[in-house]
Amino acid sequence: MPSDGLSTTDPQSNVPSSKRAKAFSDDNSVEVLIALNAGACFGVVRAIKLGLNAVSRIPETGGSVYSLGPLIHNPMVVAEMEAKGVQTINEPGDATNGTVVLRSHGVRREIEASLRERGVQIVDATCPLVKKPQRIAQGLGEKGYFLVFVGDSNHPEVKGVLSYFGRPDFLVTYDPADVQKVPEGVQKVAVLAQTTIERDVLMAVVEQCRARFAEVAVHNTICDATSVRQSEADSLARQADVVVVVGGRNSSNTKKLWKICHELQPDTHLVETMEEINPAWFVGKRKIGVTGGASTPQDYVDRIGESIARLIAPANA
Ligand code: F3S
Repeated sequence: MPSDGLSTTDPQSNVPSSKRAKAFSDDNSVEVLIALNAGACFGVVRAIKLGLNAVSRIPETGGSVYSLGPLIHNPMVVAEMEAKGVQTINEPGDATNGTVVLRSHGVRREIEASLRERGVQIVDATCPLVKKPQRIAQGLGEKGYFLVFVGDSNHPEVKGVLSYFGRPDFLVTYDPADVQKVPEGVQKVAVLAQTTIERDVLMAVVEQCRARFAEVAVHNTICDATSVRQSEADSLARQADVVVVVGGRNSSNTKKLWKICHELQPDTHLVETMEEINPAWFVGKRKIGVTGGASTPQDYVDRIGESIARLIAPANA
């Protein structure tokens, strides 16, 4: 592992970045390319399974099954889960009895504690890759580090991790220039990353920290599932004449995929459902790229890709 502490699985591997869904027209010149790893990551698949498993155990456990906040950031999947018996609540106090599923982003420590005090059963679907920064943050808090957290202060994952840090000595930012806002007198700084941020952003913040502080502990907690999807999105957008990103508008990683694609291919559209797709986007296009955020089931991304392929066939023939 390199000493910069930024090593993770290299997303720039030789893995093919897209699969050809279908080719249309007589000369096979129109293609829909679906990113190879588009769709739900293992943390989301696991959360869905744990939620449905909790529903199947209602005859033993009694009460209802709740998710504190949407189980994942995808309205379509949340609606399906609700139809199957996982009710979304917004406050811990809304869980009157039964089981509360903690979502893949994790929750703040005090929320979990208050649920336990209320006597409801807890199914912890926090992704293991979010548990990791929670554990690291707790250790850093105990060791007296100032924490520079690269991420979005409004994101539930970040709020959850910070609750494990347990002290007010932190800065949450995406902007490397903000490192100058760390108070004078701070001796040792630790850098943590939201699982869904881009590696370049983390590296830029680390660079600023190293320029200012003698001791900088770097923990690359970016999730490989995210970086692989981002790398594939980059490759897809370079090839495609138009890109469709499928996922929840409230999904951080989906928005990042859109941003990556949009910078390379301005003709990039974010959709949550097939109904939002406008056939006019594909007229005269030869390569249509499709990818999906880590909170969108893979089969749903594939179905949208196949529907687009059917849609464009007459328009381009
Ligand atoms: Fe976990 Fe990464 Fe998914 S942190 S929830 S596997 S995007």
